[in-house]
Amino acid sequence: MSKTILILGARSDMARAIALAFATRGYDVQLAARNAAALEADKADLEVRSRRKVTLHELDALDVAGHEAFVAGLPVLPDVVVCAVGVMGEQADNEASVERTVAVLRSNFEGPASLFTVLANRMAARGSGTLVGISSVAGERGRAANYVYGAAKAGFTAFLSGLRNRLAKGKTGVHVVTVLPGFVNTAMTAGLDLPKKLTAEPAEVGKAVWKAVEKGRDVVYVRPIWRLVMLVIRHIPEGVFKKLSI
Ligand SMILES: NC(=O)c1ccc[n+]([C@@H]2O[C@H](COP(=O)([O-])OP(=O)(O)OC[C@H]3O[C@@H](n4cnc5c(N)ncnc54)[C@H](OP(=O)(O)O)[C@@H]3O)[C@@H](O)[C@H]2O)c1
Repeated sequence: MSKTILILGARSDMARAIALAFATRGYDVQLAARNAAALEADKADLEVRSRRKVTLHELDALDVAGHEAFVAGLPVLPDVVVCAVGVMGEQADNEASVERTVAVLRSNFEGPASLFTVLANRMAARGSGTLVGISSVAGERGRAANYVYGAAKAGFTAFLSGLRNRLAKGKTGVHVVTVLPGFVNTAMTAGLDLPKKLTAEPAEVGKAVWKAVEKGRDVVYVRPIWRLVMLVIRHIPEGVFKKLSI
């Protein structure tokens, strides 16, 4: 029996690479995004390259009241779900505006947590499934340069950790993977001067997510060097950290 992957936030560069990685390994694909009809070209491209079935689904991650109906409306409850929904914005704009701050918190945390709550409960009732949350190393320590986005991702990372713990203890057959990509060359980081050694390409993320799902990993840094970088950053004493610009 063929398996199905659902990609939430399917227009992102990372999501596209993840969809291709799974489709070319035999998964049918459900692409969910705002204005999903505009993904017709992506759907056709993916179908030609993988010969798998691809369907499009309208999704606004902020419409939490609509998430039960969104999941109920899918042609089949997927085997794997990847959430690539996210908004970073400019830190200067975020800190200057309550609306921007709330939009970033809701887009990276509330919306994804709501979707995963619905999906986790349905998967647990079925007895199988894998949920993959794309979070961020930005959530491991708040920095002046992006603490609004970082706080939202910290919330999502903690949510994923707790959900994994709950589902593992209940022997539900549902597994949760947290992916911490580090820097990735995508639309979100366009224009930023990123260090090459620490910056992955979307295709690397696709492969890493595939491997993490296959091997049942819990928390994955796409480039292993990030584990070390964040270990150091987490251990800098607060009195020193608050004076740094990193
Ligand atoms: N790039 C990096 O360096 C990096 C590093 C760590 C983590 N991440 C995370 O990786 C994920 C993918 O990001 P990316 O780099 O590929 O950037 P991206 O292209 O900006 O992707 C973010 C996606 O989220 C979607 N989205 C935002 N709000 C939504 C909503 N309310 N409903 C439905 N979809 C919504 C966007 O859809 P629209 O096309 O409709 O705007 C967009 O496709 C994000 O969660 C991001 O936070 C990125």
